[in-house]
Amino acid sequence: MTAGSIRQPIIAVDGPAGAGKSTVARKLAERLGLLYMDTGAMYRGLAHKALRHGVDLRDESSLEDLLTHTVIDLYRGRDGQTEVLVDGENVTPYLRTPEVNASVSVVAGYPSVRVEMVRRLRKLAEHGGVVMDGRDIGTYVLPEADVKFFLTASLEARARRRQKDLARLGYQVAVDVLAQEIDHRDRLDSTRAVAPLARATDAVMIDTTNLEVDHVVDEMLSVFRRVVGE
Ligand code: DC
Repeated sequence: MTAGSIRQPIIAVDGPAGAGKSTVARKLAERLGLLYMDTGAMYRGLAHKALRHGVDLRDESSLEDLLTHTVIDLYRGRDGQTEVLVDGENVTPYLRTPEVNASVSVVAGYPSVRVEMVRRLRKLAEHGGVVMDGRDIGTYVLPEADVKFFLTASLEARARRRQKDLARLGYQVAVDVLAQEIDHRDRLDSTRAVAPLARATDAVMIDTTNLEVDHVVDEMLSVFRRVVGE
Protein backbone atom coordinates (compact mmCIF):
# COMPACT_ATOMS: atom_id res chain seq x y z
CA MET A 1 0.00 0.00 0.00
CA THR A 2 1.59 3.25 -1.01
CA ALA A 3 1.17 6.32 1.18
CA GLY A 4 -2.25 7.84 0.64
CA SER A 5 -3.49 4.73 -1.13
CA ILE A 6 -7.05 3.72 -0.33
CA ARG A 7 -6.70 0.22 -1.69
CA GLN A 8 -6.86 -2.55 0.88
CA PRO A 9 -3.61 -4.48 1.36
CA ILE A 10 -2.50 -7.34 -0.85
CA ILE A 11 -0.32 -10.12 0.50
CA ALA A 12 1.27 -12.71 -1.79
CA VAL A 13 2.30 -16.11 -0.44
CA ASP A 14 4.24 -18.34 -2.82
CA GLY A 15 6.24 -21.51 -2.52
CA PRO A 16 6.43 -25.16 -3.53
CA ALA A 17 3.83 -27.86 -2.82
CA GLY A 18 3.44 -28.71 0.85
CA ALA A 19 5.37 -25.73 2.21
CA GLY A 20 2.35 -24.85 4.35
CA LYS A 21 1.15 -21.91 2.28
CA SER A 22 -2.57 -22.50 2.46
CA THR A 23 -2.65 -23.18 6.20
CA VAL A 24 -0.69 -20.08 7.15
CA ALA A 25 -2.17 -17.84 4.45
CA ARG A 26 -5.67 -18.69 5.67
CA LYS A 27 -4.77 -17.91 9.27
CA LEU A 28 -2.96 -14.73 8.31
CA ALA A 29 -6.04 -13.57 6.39
CA GLU A 30 -8.25 -14.32 9.39
CA ARG A 31 -6.00 -12.38 11.75
CA LEU A 32 -5.97 -9.37 9.43
CA GLY A 33 -9.63 -9.53 8.37
CA LEU A 34 -8.66 -10.06 4.72
CA LEU A 35 -10.00 -12.53 2.17
CA TYR A 36 -7.98 -15.66 1.59
CA MET A 37 -7.65 -16.93 -1.97
CA ASP A 38 -6.20 -20.32 -2.71
CA THR A 39 -5.22 -20.00 -6.37
CA GLY A 40 -4.07 -23.63 -6.61
CA ALA A 41 -7.70 -24.57 -5.96
CA MET A 42 -8.69 -22.84 -9.22
CA TYR A 43 -6.17 -24.89 -11.22
CA ARG A 44 -7.32 -28.00 -9.33
CA GLY A 45 -10.95 -27.23 -10.18
CA LEU A 46 -10.08 -27.11 -13.87
CA ALA A 47 -7.95 -30.29 -13.70
CA HIS A 48 -10.81 -32.10 -11.97
CA LYS A 49 -13.33 -31.04 -14.60
CA ALA A 50 -10.93 -32.09 -17.38
CA LEU A 51 -10.50 -35.54 -15.83
CA ARG A 52 -14.22 -35.94 -15.31
CA HIS A 53 -15.01 -35.02 -18.91
CA GLY A 54 -12.23 -37.16 -20.33
CA VAL A 55 -10.45 -34.17 -21.88
CA ASP A 56 -7.04 -35.09 -23.29
CA LEU A 57 -4.57 -33.47 -20.88
CA ARG A 58 -1.93 -33.38 -23.61
CA ASP A 59 -4.06 -31.06 -25.70
CA GLU A 60 -3.60 -27.45 -24.64
CA SER A 61 -6.33 -26.05 -26.87
CA SER A 62 -8.95 -28.44 -25.44
CA LEU A 63 -8.05 -27.27 -21.94
CA GLU A 64 -8.10 -23.64 -22.97
CA ASP A 65 -11.54 -24.20 -24.48
CA LEU A 66 -12.72 -26.04 -21.39
CA LEU A 67 -11.65 -23.16 -19.15
CA THR A 68 -13.47 -20.65 -21.36
CA HIS A 69 -16.66 -22.59 -20.63
CA THR A 70 -16.01 -23.07 -16.94
CA VAL A 71 -17.04 -20.84 -14.06
CA ILE A 72 -14.84 -21.30 -10.99
CA ASP A 73 -15.82 -19.65 -7.73
CA LEU A 74 -13.97 -19.71 -4.44
CA TYR A 75 -15.74 -19.07 -1.20
CA ARG A 76 -15.08 -19.45 2.47
CA GLY A 77 -16.66 -22.54 4.01
CA ARG A 78 -17.99 -22.74 7.54
CA ASP A 79 -14.69 -24.01 8.98
CA GLY A 80 -12.70 -21.33 7.16
CA GLN A 81 -11.50 -23.73 4.46
CA THR A 82 -11.74 -22.71 0.82
CA GLU A 83 -14.70 -24.26 -0.95
CA VAL A 84 -14.56 -24.47 -4.73
CA LEU A 85 -17.57 -24.33 -7.00
CA VAL A 86 -17.08 -25.41 -10.59
CA ASP A 87 -20.08 -24.45 -12.72
CA GLY A 88 -22.06 -24.16 -9.51
CA GLU A 89 -21.16 -27.60 -8.15
CA ASN A 90 -19.14 -27.88 -4.94
CA VAL A 91 -16.18 -30.05 -5.99
CA THR A 92 -14.00 -29.37 -2.94
CA PRO A 93 -13.87 -33.01 -1.77
CA TYR A 94 -12.42 -34.13 -5.12
CA LEU A 95 -9.62 -31.60 -5.54
CA ARG A 96 -6.86 -33.23 -3.49
CA THR A 97 -7.13 -36.76 -4.79
CA PRO A 98 -4.03 -38.52 -6.20
CA GLU A 99 -5.57 -38.22 -9.71
CA VAL A 100 -5.89 -34.44 -9.48
CA ASN A 101 -2.47 -34.16 -7.81
CA ALA A 102 -0.95 -36.02 -10.74
CA SER A 103 -2.59 -33.84 -13.43
CA VAL A 104 -2.80 -30.34 -12.05
CA SER A 105 0.75 -29.22 -12.87
CA VAL A 106 0.29 -30.32 -16.48
CA VAL A 107 -2.92 -28.29 -16.75
CA ALA A 108 -1.34 -25.31 -14.98
CA GLY A 109 1.68 -25.47 -17.29
CA TYR A 110 -0.18 -24.41 -20.44
CA PRO A 111 0.40 -20.73 -21.29
CA SER A 112 -3.14 -20.18 -22.59
CA VAL A 113 -4.66 -21.65 -19.44
CA ARG A 114 -2.45 -19.42 -17.30
CA VAL A 115 -3.28 -16.27 -19.24
CA GLU A 116 -6.97 -16.77 -18.52
CA MET A 117 -6.47 -17.85 -14.89
CA VAL A 118 -4.21 -14.87 -14.21
CA ARG A 119 -6.81 -12.54 -15.73
CA ARG A 120 -9.43 -14.00 -13.37
CA LEU A 121 -7.14 -13.83 -10.33
CA ARG A 122 -6.24 -10.18 -10.98
CA LYS A 123 -9.93 -9.37 -11.23
CA LEU A 124 -10.57 -11.05 -7.87
CA ALA A 125 -7.82 -8.96 -6.30
CA GLU A 126 -8.56 -5.65 -8.01
CA HIS A 127 -9.85 -3.95 -4.87
CA GLY A 128 -7.20 -5.49 -2.62
CA GLY A 129 -7.98 -6.86 0.81
CA VAL A 130 -6.62 -10.30 -0.05
CA VAL A 131 -4.05 -12.85 0.93
CA MET A 132 -3.42 -14.88 -2.21
CA ASP A 133 -1.36 -18.06 -2.23
CA GLY A 134 0.14 -19.81 -5.22
CA ARG A 135 3.35 -20.14 -7.19
CA ASP A 136 3.57 -16.91 -9.18
CA ILE A 137 1.54 -14.42 -7.16
CA GLY A 138 4.41 -12.15 -6.09
CA THR A 139 6.33 -12.48 -9.35
CA TYR A 140 3.60 -12.35 -11.95
CA VAL A 141 -0.06 -12.20 -10.88
CA LEU A 142 0.24 -9.36 -8.36
CA PRO A 143 3.77 -7.95 -8.51
CA GLU A 144 2.41 -4.82 -6.82
CA ALA A 145 1.52 -6.80 -3.66
CA ASP A 146 2.36 -4.85 -0.50
CA VAL A 147 4.02 -7.79 1.21
CA LYS A 148 5.37 -10.98 -0.37
CA PHE A 149 6.34 -14.20 1.30
CA PHE A 150 8.08 -17.24 -0.10
CA LEU A 151 7.64 -20.33 2.06
CA THR A 152 9.85 -23.38 1.81
CA ALA A 153 10.38 -26.60 3.76
CA SER A 154 12.47 -29.72 3.29
CA LEU A 155 11.12 -32.25 0.80
CA GLU A 156 10.63 -34.78 3.59
CA ALA A 157 8.61 -32.37 5.76
CA ARG A 158 6.46 -31.47 2.79
CA ALA A 159 5.85 -35.13 1.92
CA ARG A 160 4.86 -35.85 5.53
CA ARG A 161 2.37 -32.99 5.51
CA ARG A 162 0.84 -34.24 2.27
CA GLN A 163 0.63 -37.73 3.78
CA LYS A 164 -1.43 -36.37 6.66
CA ASP A 165 -3.70 -34.41 4.30
CA LEU A 166 -4.31 -37.53 2.20
CA ALA A 167 -4.88 -39.72 5.27
CA ARG A 168 -7.67 -37.35 6.26
CA LEU A 169 -9.24 -38.04 2.87
CA GLY A 170 -8.86 -41.79 3.40
CA TYR A 171 -5.79 -42.38 1.19
CA GLN A 172 -2.75 -44.15 2.66
CA VAL A 173 0.33 -43.25 0.61
CA ALA A 174 3.98 -43.87 1.55
CA VAL A 175 6.12 -40.82 2.30
CA ASP A 176 8.75 -41.67 -0.30
CA VAL A 177 6.09 -42.00 -3.01
CA LEU A 178 4.75 -38.57 -2.06
CA ALA A 179 8.25 -37.09 -1.94
CA GLN A 180 8.83 -38.28 -5.51
CA GLU A 181 5.49 -36.92 -6.65
CA ILE A 182 6.07 -33.54 -4.99
CA ASP A 183 9.59 -33.33 -6.38
CA HIS A 184 8.25 -34.05 -9.86
CA ARG A 185 5.53 -31.41 -9.46
CA ASP A 186 8.04 -28.84 -8.18
CA ARG A 187 10.14 -29.49 -11.22
CA LEU A 188 7.21 -29.01 -13.61
CA ASP A 189 6.11 -25.86 -11.75
CA SER A 190 9.64 -24.40 -11.65
CA THR A 191 10.63 -25.07 -15.23
CA ARG A 192 7.50 -24.14 -17.17
CA ALA A 193 7.90 -21.38 -19.71
CA VAL A 194 5.29 -18.98 -18.33
CA ALA A 195 5.41 -17.60 -14.78
CA PRO A 196 7.28 -20.50 -13.16
CA LEU A 197 7.45 -21.06 -9.43
CA ALA A 198 10.07 -18.57 -8.30
CA ARG A 199 10.85 -16.37 -5.37
CA ALA A 200 10.25 -12.68 -6.02
CA THR A 201 13.41 -10.72 -5.25
CA ASP A 202 11.45 -8.67 -2.71
CA ALA A 203 9.79 -11.68 -1.02
CA VAL A 204 10.53 -12.56 2.58
CA MET A 205 11.64 -16.19 2.72
CA ILE A 206 10.50 -18.42 5.59
CA ASP A 207 11.66 -22.02 6.00
CA THR A 208 8.76 -23.78 7.77
CA THR A 209 10.45 -27.19 8.18
CA ASN A 210 10.70 -26.97 11.96
CA LEU A 211 8.22 -24.22 12.70
CA GLU A 212 4.74 -24.48 14.19
CA VAL A 213 1.97 -22.93 12.12
CA ASP A 214 1.27 -20.18 14.66
CA HIS A 215 4.92 -19.26 14.81
CA VAL A 216 5.00 -18.78 11.03
CA VAL A 217 1.80 -16.71 11.13
CA ASP A 218 3.20 -14.50 13.92
CA GLU A 219 6.36 -13.93 11.92
CA MET A 220 4.34 -12.99 8.84
CA LEU A 221 2.19 -10.64 10.88
CA SER A 222 5.21 -8.84 12.24
CA VAL A 223 6.68 -8.48 8.74
CA PHE A 224 3.33 -7.17 7.49
CA ARG A 225 3.07 -4.61 10.31
CA ARG A 226 6.61 -3.45 9.73
CA VAL A 227 6.09 -3.03 6.00
CA VAL A 228 2.72 -1.31 6.05
CA GLY A 229 3.63 0.67 9.14
CA GLU A 230 0.71 -0.50 11.30
O1 DC B 1 -1.02 -25.08 -4.18
P1 DC B 1 -1.55 -26.36 -4.85
O2 DC B 1 -0.74 -27.58 -4.56
O3 DC B 1 -3.00 -26.56 -4.60
O4 DC B 1 -1.40 -26.06 -6.43
C1 DC B 1 -1.82 -27.00 -7.39
C2 DC B 1 -1.04 -26.81 -8.68
O5 DC B 1 -1.46 -25.63 -9.35
C3 DC B 1 0.47 -26.71 -8.52
O6 DC B 1 1.09 -27.91 -8.91
C4 DC B 1 0.89 -25.62 -9.44
C5 DC B 1 -0.35 -24.95 -9.89
N1 DC B 1 -0.43 -23.56 -9.49
C6 DC B 1 0.13 -22.64 -10.32
O7 DC B 1 0.73 -23.01 -11.31
N2 DC B 1 0.02 -21.31 -10.05
C7 DC B 1 -0.63 -20.91 -8.95
N3 DC B 1 -0.73 -19.59 -8.71
C8 DC B 1 -1.19 -21.85 -8.07
C9 DC B 1 -1.06 -23.18 -8.35
